[in-house]
Amino acid sequence: MDTVTANIAAEERFRLLVESVKDYGIFLINPEGDIESWNKGAERIKGYSASEVIGKNFSLFYTPEDILRGHPAWELQQAQVDGRYEEEGWRVRKDGTRFWANVVITPLRDNSGTLIGFAKVTRDLTERKQAEEKLRMVNAGLEKRVEERTLELKEAVSLRDEFLSIASHELRTPLTPLKLNVQSLIRMLKKEFGDTEGDKVMKLAGTCDVALSRLSNLIDNLLDVSRVSNGKLTLNREVVDLSELIDEILVRYRNEISSAGTEVVFQKTGSFTGFFDRLRIEQVVINLLTNALKYGNKSILEISMREDGNYFEMEFRDMGPGIHPDDHEKIFQRFERVLNNSAISGLGLGLYISRQIVTAHEGTISVNSSPGKGAVFIVRLPKTEIKS
Ligand SMILES: Nc1ncnc2c1ncn2[C@@H]1O[C@H](COP(=O)(O)OP(=O)(O)O)[C@@H](O)[C@H]1O
Ligand SMILES: [Mg+2]
Repeated sequence: MDTVTANIAAEERFRLLVESVKDYGIFLINPEGDIESWNKGAERIKGYSASEVIGKNFSLFYTPEDILRGHPAWELQQAQVDGRYEEEGWRVRKDGTRFWANVVITPLRDNSGTLIGFAKVTRDLTERKQAEEKLRMVNAGLEKRVEERTLELKEAVSLRDEFLSIASHELRTPLTPLKLNVQSLIRMLKKEFGDTEGDKVMKLAGTCDVALSRLSNLIDNLLDVSRVSNGKLTLNREVVDLSELIDEILVRYRNEISSAGTEVVFQKTGSFTGFFDRLRIEQVVINLLTNALKYGNKSILEISMREDGNYFEMEFRDMGPGIHPDDHEKIFQRFERVLNNSAISGLGLGLYISRQIVTAHEGTISVNSSPGKGAVFIVRLPKTEIKS
């Protein structure tokens, strides 16, 4: 075989190769865009046989919208400018159906650089496109469901908060006169019987009084939770001496302290007067005190106060079972309790509310404890300028 014959044979083989490729539509168009060759892949993808398309303009495969905006000719122009043009887009088959195509157009030039036409390679990516579309729709559906569910949950939470708020208001209404009546009953009993014959009755009335206090604390906590979640926890600041406040509370709670079978030691040095919400701070102290009485396993509770720079620091130290470090943050969450002894009742709200109150005062509350080593709760409140 001479070289010319060998070259012709090689070209023929190459032509056959291109013609028989089925996965890619490969064809040539002239500089005007008229189709000059056609392969099996093009036939398979576009549905036309070679005799049906050769000599026709390649815009035949474009959608009416693309033709209207002159897209086919623009593609050829871009290919000439950049040496290559690639895009993905909708194309039309012989039967009028559309397919999602990846198209690469390469300009062909002779030795002198004159444009002699374009090679166009087309792939059918419809299946990939459909899969992507399906995925996109599934994603969009999921996102919508998550949004709907979030909305439902938000509604449920606000319904619960509303319920808490109404229920605690309603529960408190009959409780206030009940408490007042029990207290005047105790006073009347004292007058009537003195401290002798009335002892038994007095004890019963006293038990009622303690139970009522507990009940109203619980209800107040519930009311506070709904206040906090509605962002309605506002402070009524006044001049308060924190150590006097603690002294007062310890006197008020002496029955509870003795019936818990323990005692409280209060140590302080210095003056602790600042501008605080008295009732709210009282709530924090009462909660830490009653927690120590409930959970401190009859150990002595040591309360101490000191000044630390710009802060007043209160410490509540018991020698009870303590709290595992894993639970230190958890116990400050709503309705969270760490139950070693399920007989001890509570809603798991006290520390949550205490933290809200202390935070509203721009202070901090934290716990220091490990199992078997007792628990230390530390409240730090910034000293405030006393305004009047
Ligand atoms: N002094 C303490 N010693 C051990 N555990 C405590 C102490 N104080 C609080 N805890 C734990 O923290 C939890 C949350 O306390 P709190 O929010 O006041 O709720 P409650 O008193 O209603 O249980 C308690 O259930 C208890 O498990
Ligand atoms: Mg509590």
